[in-house]
Amino acid sequence: MFIEEHVPVMVEKMNWKPFESILDYGCGAGSVSSHFLFPIAEKYSSAVTGVDVSPEMVEYANENHSHALANFLVGNIMVDDKFKWPLQNVKFDKILVVNVVHFIQDYEEFFKRIVDQLNKGGQLACGIPFAKYQRIHHNLSEHPKWRKYMGVMKKVRASWAYDDNLDFPSSVKSILESLGLKIIDFYSYEAPYLFPSVNEFTDFVIATNLGAKNVPAELKKELREEIGRQGAEIMEISPLSKPFQITSKYLRFVVEK
Ligand SMILES: C[S@@+](CC[C@H](N)C(=O)[O-])C[C@H]1O[C@@H](n2cnc3c(N)ncnc32)[C@H](O)[C@@H]1O
Repeated sequence: MFIEEHVPVMVEKMNWKPFESILDYGCGAGSVSSHFLFPIAEKYSSAVTGVDVSPEMVEYANENHSHALANFLVGNIMVDDKFKWPLQNVKFDKILVVNVVHFIQDYEEFFKRIVDQLNKGGQLACGIPFAKYQRIHHNLSEHPKWRKYMGVMKKVRASWAYDDNLDFPSSVKSILESLGLKIIDFYSYEAPYLFPSVNEFTDFVIATNLGAKNVPAELKKELREEIGRQGAEIMEISPLSKPFQITSKYLRFVVEK
């Protein structure tokens, strides 16, 4: 839902030029590159590099979105051993980071490192979901019954992403300013997001939980009940409420170095 709404705006606000190098950081399956960056690369004779920490995602992107102007590779800018980061000496003119930062605990360090990869005059665009309901993934990752299936979510969701006491947009803005970046677009919102009932909300949580596929079929009903119960508790609404409403929060920005 965030991609269709925000990526076209981010792309529209960036100042594209011929023969640029473009990085899609946390490219996942390659669909953002394919839908939004390949047309730009073709128009401006530019090159796209997609990077993701997950070898499976990179393999999928290479198999399904291969393009003469693109290259997908495995990497994690957050590794402390800089020699393991394959792009350490490479700079880019444009960097897009869509729905990735909420996986990274130390977002200040991430912004420092990613801005370091930008050429002078280059632009960075980020879209970041952060919302209280994501606490469900954390709770399931620690739950005595579910952690053996869903413990993976502890590593892949940053705790700040569901901390309602943090003013995340202000915190990010001051980091961007402290890095001396020019702010071209900075937009955050909190909006109610309605699911027809708790059932559809539960489907959404299961679809975004990397460990859900490991849960045996005979436990799926119990897992759904647990998610519905936690959703209602965290969002402070009745599980029988129709529609079932959560608050969706998103931060989008484009900055220039
Ligand atoms: C929700 S997906 C978004 C994928 C893609 N950007 C999109 O919007 O379709 C998040 C991706 O970030 C990747 N990721 C998480 N932490 C990362 C890190 N430290 N470095 C690189 N990729 C990371 C995950 O492997 C996953 O593919």
